[in-house]
Amino acid sequence: MTERCQGDTRPRTGPRARTAIVLAAAALLAATSAAFLPGTASAGTTLGASAAEKGRYFGTAVAASRLSDGNYTTILNREFNSVTPENEMKIDATEPQQGRFSYGAAEQIVNHARSRGMSVRGHTLAWHSQQPPWMESMSGSALRSAMLNHVTQVATHFRGQVVAWDVVNEAFEDGTSGARRNSNLQRTGNDWIEAAFRAARTADPGAKLCYNDYNTDNWTHAKTQAVYNMVRDFKSRGVPIDCVGFQSHFNNDSPYVSNYRTTLSSFAALGVDVQVTELDIQGAPAATYRSVVEDCLAVARCNGVTVWGIRDSDSWRASQTPLLFNSSGQKKAAYDAVLAALNNGTTPTDPPTTPPTTPPTTPPSGSCTATLQDSTRWGDRFNSQVTVSGATNWTVVVAVTPPQKVSNTWNGTPTWDSSGNVMTMRSNGSGNVFGFTTMANGTWTRPVVRSCTVS
Ligand code: G3I
Repeated sequence: MTERCQGDTRPRTGPRARTAIVLAAAALLAATSAAFLPGTASAGTTLGASAAEKGRYFGTAVAASRLSDGNYTTILNREFNSVTPENEMKIDATEPQQGRFSYGAAEQIVNHARSRGMSVRGHTLAWHSQQPPWMESMSGSALRSAMLNHVTQVATHFRGQVVAWDVVNEAFEDGTSGARRNSNLQRTGNDWIEAAFRAARTADPGAKLCYNDYNTDNWTHAKTQAVYNMVRDFKSRGVPIDCVGFQSHFNNDSPYVSNYRTTLSSFAALGVDVQVTELDIQGAPAATYRSVVEDCLAVARCNGVTVWGIRDSDSWRASQTPLLFNSSGQKKAAYDAVLAALNNGTTPTDPPTTPPTTPPTTPPSGSCTATLQDSTRWGDRFNSQVTVSGATNWTVVVAVTPPQKVSNTWNGTPTWDSSGNVMTMRSNGSGNVFGFTTMANGTWTRPVVRSCTVS
């Protein structure tokens, strides 16, 4: 046997050498994909890495005040590849006095996340709750202007750093009415929600714009149907909405239900992405956590899951011990169940193989599904591939994050919006898979599919 010492660069030969070459190539490949899928410490062994293997994210709410807690940040940095500021982007935090904006705590979280390759969900631009006193006491056109200015200022400030915004939060009543919540924002006129979405789109054309709510998990509930009808209406009138967030705070009064998957897939069939945005479950039953993750994985347009805190002691409902880690930071049975679900996830099927039994409304016929996958990456650019299902005459809208620019496309006919960041790709007879090259210009955020419609 020939011994080799450090620094020996002679080529190896023979079976062991070939094995070494294969292992080295595999390591390089793994390193490349790990670099491209942010936060993927070791694929398959952490929540973020396993979700990334399925083309999803696994996120958590983060409180800026806890970033100095080493136990907390160790888990955060190891397990998660998406972050939502728990309170720091809310209206009272970002505009405590009218016209005077305060971004310090939010930026602390954004910087922590982005410097580690985690993506950021923005929460939230327009909400009846956690308004600063000056806004709480406003009404009418003054409030409408102040709300739109707030949306514009905050979304502009974080432009390019937030992949998805909860533009409007919790605008519907609980119970059986299906009505809008009676809030000072609602009293400015029923069109306040779409006005907020249009302002957000103008401010940050690259971000996905979501409507976010709770008690919208059960497909048969009036509130779920009311939100569904609003999203359907928005899509039909071209109001810029890209996604719906399901908070999914499950407890004994508002439990997980088996039609949750139907809810997710029915919204997705409207041509929006769906996201589980604030998951926690009273008592953290492993089977229920597993079901939620499996339901998301079963819907192609379910982008990912965010849990509302890391350890039980971090939860807004700490006494219900609803999270994946106990107060000492140890993994609970629910953690193992979620990881197993992520690792065993099946190929997404969307629309669902089991359609809603009694859909109160019929999804529009003009929708299709487009799934974006990463492909090759170079030092300055990367390729993405989009697979369309459900139509041959498709139109897919894709957005990149400034200062990224698309430099090349194939298997489709592209047009561009005025910003140059939003590409509308139409089928050109080359099949149902198109691709494009994005010049990163220092930003490696994955492009997002905004919509897929039948031409
Ligand atoms: O930071 C102050 C502290 O200085 C003060 O001593 C203390 C006294 O009450 O309050 C602290 O602020 C609290 C803040 O959380 C930070 O812990 C607020 O009182 C408290 O109201 C606030 O609660 C937040 C709640 O939203 C407010 O609506 C929760 O942390 C946050 O988890 C929760 O998140 C919401 C989502 O935004 C929307 N969906 C529901 C979800 C749960 O309510």
